[in-house]
Amino acid sequence: MITEKKSTITYRKWDNGAMREFSEEVTVVRMDNGAITYACGITQEGYLLHCYFGAAIGDDDISYLMRLSDHPFTPNGNNRDRLIFMDSRLFEFPCHGTGDYREPCLMVLDEDGMSTCDLRVTGYRTVKGKPALKQKGVSVIPATYAAKDEAETLVITLEDAHLDLTAELTYTMFTGLPVVTRSARVINHGYNEFRIQRLLSGCVEWDHSAFDMITLNGTWARERAVSRVALHSGKQSVDSKRGISSHQHNPFAALVSHDASEESGEAYGFNLVYSGNFLAEAEVATSGFTRFVMGINPFDFSWLLRPEEDLTAPELVMVYSDKGIGAMSRTFHDLYRGHLIRGQWKDKMRPVLINNWEATYFNFDEEKLYAIAKTASEKGIEMLVLDDGWFGKRNYDDCSLGDWVVNEEKLKGGLKPLVDRINALGMKFGLWFEPEMVSPDSDLYRAHPEWAIQIIGRDMTQAREQYVLDYSNPEVREYVYGQIRAILDSANVEYIKWDMNRALSEVGSTSLPRKRQRELWHRYVLGVYEVMDRLTTDYPYLLLENCSSGGARFDPGMLYFSPQIWTSDDTDAIERIKIQYGTSLCYPASAMGAHVSDCPNHILGRTTPFATRGDVALVGTFGYELDVTRIPEEDREAIPGQIAKFKKFNPLVRTGDWYRLGNPFEDDSFDAWMFVAKDRSEAVFTFVQILNRPSTPSRRILLRGLDPKKVYRNEDTGEIRLGETWMKGGVIVGAQGDFASRTMHFTVC
Ligand code: DGJ
Repeated sequence: MITEKKSTITYRKWDNGAMREFSEEVTVVRMDNGAITYACGITQEGYLLHCYFGAAIGDDDISYLMRLSDHPFTPNGNNRDRLIFMDSRLFEFPCHGTGDYREPCLMVLDEDGMSTCDLRVTGYRTVKGKPALKQKGVSVIPATYAAKDEAETLVITLEDAHLDLTAELTYTMFTGLPVVTRSARVINHGYNEFRIQRLLSGCVEWDHSAFDMITLNGTWARERAVSRVALHSGKQSVDSKRGISSHQHNPFAALVSHDASEESGEAYGFNLVYSGNFLAEAEVATSGFTRFVMGINPFDFSWLLRPEEDLTAPELVMVYSDKGIGAMSRTFHDLYRGHLIRGQWKDKMRPVLINNWEATYFNFDEEKLYAIAKTASEKGIEMLVLDDGWFGKRNYDDCSLGDWVVNEEKLKGGLKPLVDRINALGMKFGLWFEPEMVSPDSDLYRAHPEWAIQIIGRDMTQAREQYVLDYSNPEVREYVYGQIRAILDSANVEYIKWDMNRALSEVGSTSLPRKRQRELWHRYVLGVYEVMDRLTTDYPYLLLENCSSGGARFDPGMLYFSPQIWTSDDTDAIERIKIQYGTSLCYPASAMGAHVSDCPNHILGRTTPFATRGDVALVGTFGYELDVTRIPEEDREAIPGQIAKFKKFNPLVRTGDWYRLGNPFEDDSFDAWMFVAKDRSEAVFTFVQILNRPSTPSRRILLRGLDPKKVYRNEDTGEIRLGETWMKGGVIVGAQGDFASRTMHFTVC
């Protein structure tokens, strides 16, 4: 429900040695859904202030929360005397240049070289449901979606009359979910062009700084490690300047109360629906107030806005929880499963796949692949995914990206004969592409060197001996998509792994005009989205899995196009525990690509039990990445049992509530988690021992999320207890060997 309340704020203050009374008309516009309240205030001068974001609050006058009566008071004798006011109020969408010296959301450079912007509210409107984000000339901007009865949207319009610029701030609140999404669109209504130097998606302010900031950081094969640090004076941020959301930092941040645990305390979670450069920044001002801003990274960003042109910021998802960090995560999971992920695979169990990458790398031919598929199908595996190396003359990672033509030395007669044979085994067939890349040693690069991202006259930095294609150029997109189509139309390909294996460098485009070169970062991402959108629209049955050297683009922008993302190249079960834990802070298990791989592990050299690798891979889409014809007989024989387990528990994992019971970042001796059905009729619990210790007692782990009043049976031990007992008393897990795991199934009796 969106409502408006007008009121007069009256207060007495010392003014030039005398106590005087002041009053000001304000309007509070608030959104409520029973779970949370979000409120903005409009001052009589048209400033848009932040009023409240948190647990649902009664239908009261909350205008006092704008803190207008605090020193200094603005509408005093001199109405222009508002410098300190600007630098200390709680703003919804701060601009640069009029005296707010904290981080702004908007910064505009006009033709005179001036960079001041002053936005005042001109009105607002409400919309049932959630309109798609739009920008002229852009075919798709990923964002959450909702039917008319699932959400309400507030669009506040502000204007800078001097620049003739309007800003539309969009807020959506979802029915029953403690979530607000935000975006901002700026439009040039004037006769002059100007540059948008920064357009962030949103800002939230608090009149205190008693928060810890949680972020997800890492590197290749060690993505999304959790960091939790108390806020302090000044700024703390994570960002990406790499052109992808990156291994190093995820476009996620949470501000949580110092006492917040999995089960209690306040948590504000933020996640940007974007796959390129981002910034998430918290700033504690000398007042002790906190400003949090997030959006496209303003670093090296500049966007020319000609008359009548517009620019739309990506969507910022904001989740509130007063029941701890676990509840925050479960809200993200519900939102993404119900309102972000799309397509025919959204609510379906995914086929159990076998991927040949770690089995063969580039060294395969049709017979080798067929042998893997045949044994795999006998064990119940449902899809063969042919990874890198099937095209051009690619026998190593030094050539042929861009030449998406089957290498007939490996696969005679093209893909069709192989795919037909795989299908005859009763298996689906999936294929790897890296559509955004070109190798210097490729027919494509020889024909079109200008299609690579580059600065003419400068050396081009290679990474994995490849360059990045200029996806801001429609010709490039058309060409690459045409090649993908030709392959898809040549055989029954039902799954694509879309990989992206390097960050951008020498970011310049031969097709963009000089004035628009700094737009390339963002235009590149929009170009990638356009091709993914065409692909998933033209081939709606395709299961698309995103990947970026493992998990360098695990973000909500990608989830809009692909229901699953390869979580990490690190498939070692013990490392994966941490990676999956960090990823779970805002992404659901239904989206996490997880495979059982070979041992010793190809990255770490560690050996873990086959059963543990299986139990850890259950937290995801489940598959295998090993040469099934060569693993120990005992492991091969265990595959049908693992698949049966996956089929039994996947509905719970995919649709249920995820409770993190351990924390491998704080205690690396074990981890435990559970998934509980939405109707609380059953749950699956998993425990993984990391290094065992001598002379240690068994562990007692408290279960979560059960119905306290119902009786649950532990199907593995036969114990029967009240949900309340399992949650307060816990389950006892005896000593396990190093890296051993256990799962337990709990059902209502
Ligand atoms: C990186 C991916 O993360 C791997 O799974 C694999 O597909 C390789 N690229 C292939 O080059």
